[in-house]
Order: sequence, then C-alpha cells, then structure tokens
Amino acid sequence: MSERIAAVVREKPRRSFGFGAVLAAFGLAVVLLVSGMSGSSNAASTSRHARPRAATSAPQQQAINSKVNALLGQLTVAEKFGQLEMAGPSTANGSDLAALAAAGKIGTVLDLTGVDNINAVQKAAVSSAMNHHIPLIFGLDVIHGYRTMFPVPLGEAASWDPTQVANDESVSADEAAADGIKWTFNPMVDISRDPRWGRVVEGAGEDPFLGSAIAAAKVKGYQGNDFSAPDKVAATIKHFGGYGAPVAGREYNTVDMSTQQLFNDYLPPYKAAVDAGAATVMSSFNSLNGVPNTANPYLLTQILRDEWGFGGATLSDYQAVQELEEFGYAADGADAARLALTAGENIEMAVSMTSTNPVYDTYATYGPTLLHEGKITMTELNDAVRHVLTLKYLAGMFSDPYQGSDARVASEELTPANQAVALQTAEESLVLLNNNNHALPLSSSTSKIAVVGPLGDDALDQLGPDVPIGYDTTPADLKTTDKIVTVSDGIKTADPGATVTTVSGCTTFTVADPCNETSGFGAAVAAAQAADVTVIVVGEPAGDSGEASSRTALDLPGAQEELISDIKATGKPYVIVLMNGRPLTIPELGGDPTTHADGAPAMLEAWYPGTTGGTAVANALFGKFDPSGKLPMSFPQNVGQIPMSYDELPTGRPYDPNNKYTSRYLDVSNAPEYPFGYGLSYTSFSVSNVSAPSSVSRNGTIHVTATVTNTGSAAGTDVAQLYIHESDTTILQPVEKLEGFKRVSLPAGQSTTVRFTLGPQNLGFYNNNGQFAVEPGTFDLWVGDSSTADTGTPTMFTVG
Ligand code: BGC
Repeated sequence: MSERIAAVVREKPRRSFGFGAVLAAFGLAVVLLVSGMSGSSNAASTSRHARPRAATSAPQQQAINSKVNALLGQLTVAEKFGQLEMAGPSTANGSDLAALAAAGKIGTVLDLTGVDNINAVQKAAVSSAMNHHIPLIFGLDVIHGYRTMFPVPLGEAASWDPTQVANDESVSADEAAADGIKWTFNPMVDISRDPRWGRVVEGAGEDPFLGSAIAAAKVKGYQGNDFSAPDKVAATIKHFGGYGAPVAGREYNTVDMSTQQLFNDYLPPYKAAVDAGAATVMSSFNSLNGVPNTANPYLLTQILRDEWGFGGATLSDYQAVQELEEFGYAADGADAARLALTAGENIEMAVSMTSTNPVYDTYATYGPTLLHEGKITMTELNDAVRHVLTLKYLAGMFSDPYQGSDARVASEELTPANQAVALQTAEESLVLLNNNNHALPLSSSTSKIAVVGPLGDDALDQLGPDVPIGYDTTPADLKTTDKIVTVSDGIKTADPGATVTTVSGCTTFTVADPCNETSGFGAAVAAAQAADVTVIVVGEPAGDSGEASSRTALDLPGAQEELISDIKATGKPYVIVLMNGRPLTIPELGGDPTTHADGAPAMLEAWYPGTTGGTAVANALFGKFDPSGKLPMSFPQNVGQIPMSYDELPTGRPYDPNNKYTSRYLDVSNAPEYPFGYGLSYTSFSVSNVSAPSSVSRNGTIHVTATVTNTGSAAGTDVAQLYIHESDTTILQPVEKLEGFKRVSLPAGQSTTVRFTLGPQNLGFYNNNGQFAVEPGTFDLWVGDSSTADTGTPTMFTVG
C-alpha cells in the first residue's frame, strides 16, 4: 500500500519495464439479479447476444452525438490522439500536467487527488483555446472506499449482500466526487480460484453467480442511473478478461483456458456489469490463449462490442500498450499502438508522456504516422475519440468541469452516516469459521481481556492493500482524522468495564519481516496469563495481498502460529481473529475439515475490515449481532490443492478415500479446509421442504421454495443458497453450481419460506463455441447454507 501512496509523488513512472453504439450501455436501470436484493432469484448472465437497453433518451443521445461530432470536426489528428492519452502526475501537485492539458496532449488523468490540484489542472485544460476548451476527466483506483474505508472487496463479497455493497460504492462515489474524481477504476470483477494470486483481495471470489451479482451492484452503486450527478462516478470493469487465472497464480502471467470455461466461469461478471451500464472497460495485462489482451480484438471488439453491445470506452492497463513490445507481440512502439488501437483499445494509460526510452504514449507518438501510412484508419481513430468525448459528456465534465470543492470534502467525506454504512458492511463481511463449544460470543461482563498479535491495534494494515492515493496515512492521524477503530479500540468500547491489555508480541510486521522475531512473545503470554480471555489478531501484513503480491506459501506468515501456540499453552481461553486478503492454508487452526472440533476454539475471518473494522469485530465477539458472512472463496487445506473451486467438473473416477485409483491426493483429502459458502452463526439453521416442479420446458421458468428454520436459541441471519447440477449434457457440467441465494434473518425457533426463480439463464450454459443453450437433461437441485449442500438428497427435475 505504501508503495501506491508513495506513487503520488513519484518522479518517474511507477514501472520502468518495460460510437457507433454510443450510450447504449449507459444509465440502465439495473436489474439486480439475486434474491438478496429482490426476494426472488434470477440469473446473473443472459444470452451472449443480448443487447443492453439504452436508458438515455434518444434526444439526449442525439444531442451528445452532435456535440461530439462537432468537436471532432475541429480537432487535428494530433489533438485526436491527445484525447486518447491518459497521464499521471510526476510532481506532488500534478503541476506538470497543466502544460500537457493546455496543449491538448492528454484527454484523461489518473492518480491526481486533492481539490486544488485537480481544479488547477482542469483550469489549464478548459481555459486553453489550443485544447478547444475540452475538460479532462480524473480517474483513480477507488477500490473499497475513498475516505471512509469499507472492507476489502473479498470481504464485501463475503456479505452475500449486493444491496449493501451497492451502498458502499454509493458512499465511495460521493466521497471521491467531492474531491473531483469522476471515474473509478473499479470494480475488479475477475473470478479467481487461485489464492496464490494476490489480487483475489480485489474481487468477489471464485463464483460467477455471486461475482455477477456483486459486479452489477457495484456499477449501480458508483453510477446510479446517471453518473453526471454530483455524487456519482463512472465505473470501470477490469481486467478484461480471464485475468484471475494466471498460470501458477503468478501475477501478470499467461492465461490459457477453454472457451467454455471463459464464457461460463470468467466472463459472466463482465456481462452482468455491462448490462448494468458500466461506463468503461479496462483490458488486462495478461495474454489469453496466446494474445495479449491489450490488443485482443476477440475480447475488445467481437465479444464486448459486437456481441454484448457495449457502448462505452475501453482503456488499457498501466503502460500496457508499450508492454506489447515486451511480450514480443509488437515489433516496436508503433506496432504496439497499431495493434492496440485496431483491436479496440480506445484509451492508452500511458501515465508518463515524457519518457523517451521506452515511449509510453505510443498513440500520440506514432499515431499520426500510422494514420498517414494507412495502418490505422480515420474511422478507427474517430471512433476511439468519440468514446472518450462521450464519456466526458456523460460524466457532466462539459457542463461542470469543477465538480469537487473544499466545501463538499468537508461535508461529504467520512461523515457519521458514511461510517455507519461501513460498519454494517464490515459486520456482514465477518465469517465465523470455528466456534467449538460456544467459545463465542464473549460475555460483555468479561473483566480482563488481552488483545494480542500484530493486527490487534494496527490501524493502517486493517485497511488492506488498496488505500487510495491521497489517503492520509500519517500515523498520528489514523485514529483521529481518519477515524479508524482497531480491534483493541472496539473491544474497549464494547466492554467498557473491562481492563484491556494490548500487546502486539511482534517487533515488526511487514512483508519482509512478518513477525519473524519472537522476543516479544513473552509479554504477549504474560498478558494472556493475566486475562480472562485473549483475543489473538493475526493474519497477513496488508502488503502481502493486492497487485504484484502473489505468494507460494499461504500459511500465517512469520512466527504467528508459534505465537498462537504459546497463548494456547497458557491454558487460558482464547479466540482468534484473522485479517488477510486471501484464503489462507491454516489446517492447524481449522482442525478437521468437516467438524473443526480439534481446531482453534473460535476463529473469526475479518478480512481487512476497514475504518470501522474494530467496532464490527468487537460487536461480533460480544454477540451484539449474529455473524452471517459466508466464504466467497474456498480455503484449501494445502497449497498443493490449488487451483480449487467448489464447482469443479465431474471426473470418471470420483474421489474415494478407499480407492487409490480415483481422483485424489495421497496425503490429504480433496476437501477444502472451509468450503465456498461456509460460515457459522451463533444460532443454528436447517433447510427443509425443498420443492420444485418435476419438469420445465427449455425456455421456461421454475419457482423453487424451501423452508429455512432457525433451530437455535438466538435470533440470527443465514444465507440460503441454491445449487444445481445437470447430467447427460453435450459438455460436462459442474458437480454443482450456485444459481440463487437469499439472506434470511429469523428470531429463534421461527421459519420462513425462501423463493427462487430459475430461468433459461440459470439452466443453460455456454458450449465450446461460446454459444449459450439450454440442453434437455436431468437436474439435481439443493438448497442449503454452504456449497456442501450437495451432500444432501437432491430435488430432481427435468428440462425437456
Ligand atoms: C492495475 C489496475 C489499476 C491501474 C491504475 C494497474 O497496475 O493493474 O488495476 O487500475 O494500475 O492504478
């Protein structure tokens, strides 16, 4: 994280290595696709050929089109290429950008924050006749908050509550827009089944259905129905596509996958987000089946534009056009520009406009010659520029180029209301992994509590790796100005009568030295011995996840497991809180993968819970609410099981622990330590009376009902999950796949009926030609509260 924050003042580029269909996708009334939002379940993806409906009225579209055309007619070729360049600041206040803006050499800006900085550069752009007074639009990675920090995206997804996640993004949009940021490079909607890849922290986990619901909700939250509104921003879905499946989990690495897997597992969240009206799409750094995605016409043109009808702007990732040379795909910089532009890449995230070796602004540098030589056409150039200008019109930049103000910053950022939203999401994101013999909740009259471990009182790391550029990380300001509540702080508030002793035990907690040194453990043990209960807060330093943070070992880094053993050896009660950006391999703490009875007494997965995270964790520990989060990604027992997902395809030799010649390992079972969809509650639930019609036509819809009962003695919240499997199909279907979910809150002893609707979108699948079809066959259906639902007796129906 510190690297990214430091990047705002970097002198050099961060890395040295190397409308025709205008508006069609914008402003849609999002149909949020899951039962969690609507009360009944529906599909997350639709036919590959479905076109988004345009909500922008025809006269509005025409008005923007004619303004854009008029402007296009005034621009020289060089100025057109200028509009396609995105630059970042190389001075602290971005003063270097002003001259570029005034000269019409850039169209968009990234990574500049602060009202005064943004307005000064904007003024240079709009007051310049040379720039035809065209405003800039300012973009930033606003990933899980701007000033009010929400749980990291993987934690948000663990809430299984798209409505709440949309609320987060609404707050983020308002706070960022108050500063003048009108465009976020988020959401990342990459599915991943490989927790070695550090960027899983930025996504919604392993499942396309949950991922699609969250993707659509995020777009809706950022953009609303009109992102020119002062409190809205344009969203970017990234990284298109397949970015979450790099070989060996190594960042930026090759992706090679079948068409059916791409379409069934990796593209659905993109499609859902495009249908929800996402303004822009960022291509990924990786190659897909041998073609770098920065210059991949199959993705950027054929699928995105021709088949999905996307009408917004596309952009490259950070200096990725130049990297086409590094791939050995482009012969030189000019060739890189040609390949990217003709593939459908509208905006080049050049970042540095001044570097000459290598040249990052390949469009501006080589574009005019390419055009002159006929290697790109004026139509291609005009189309790309049209997308950029349209984006700025839609964001309201022409009518109000100065949208941020100090007054808005003062009144709209980090407000009590925003913190309340963050608290609710943080509470919903917590996943109770173990709770043997009701170790939790703690009594609120516990009088002596030790808070031990490196993350018990670490305000900055608790925000995770993706704190936005410009965030105030001055240590003295974290708890005061930034209002971060740590676990230690939260416990003091939740149990005001208790004596709370906080001891990290670790001398350092960094990526390089994540609590390797054990000399402080004695003080932690002494605190545990003197306490009635110890809350051990361990996990990964924030820098262990995020971009460029792949790991091969996923256990608790450093000597943290030893710290836990030392506390356990005191014989005093303890519970564990985890903060991490990915599934960890923690079989010692998890215990038996089925019962967990021999694991840690209690363990709460808190991810990186954000500004109000300590309050959320403390409220959970003391039972002020019932933890209801469910894992959006499987936790393997062991790194050797990766990649892992619950929805694997069947094999001809299914797992049998007593038969060597089945699909299995010699050393561990195939089971995850904790499965997708898993999460305990302080009460218990049962699902019964699952009912579905016995048959449905291929284009028909069925309604499924089930009874959820709170069988325990306390009120609680569960997530009912519907899974299906079809057999006898032309290509194998997953052993089970999620096709509906619904959050249910119930008083002790009460039941309710949950309803799901399954249509062709849920029952069909893509074949290896990328074509979607519902095939006749027999379905098994389960409703439960984790992906282990498929161990129960299925309800069966046929599709004819
Ligand atoms: C990341 C993108 C990000 C961009 C701009 C890249 O390195 O891959 O996700 O939006 O930087 O910060």
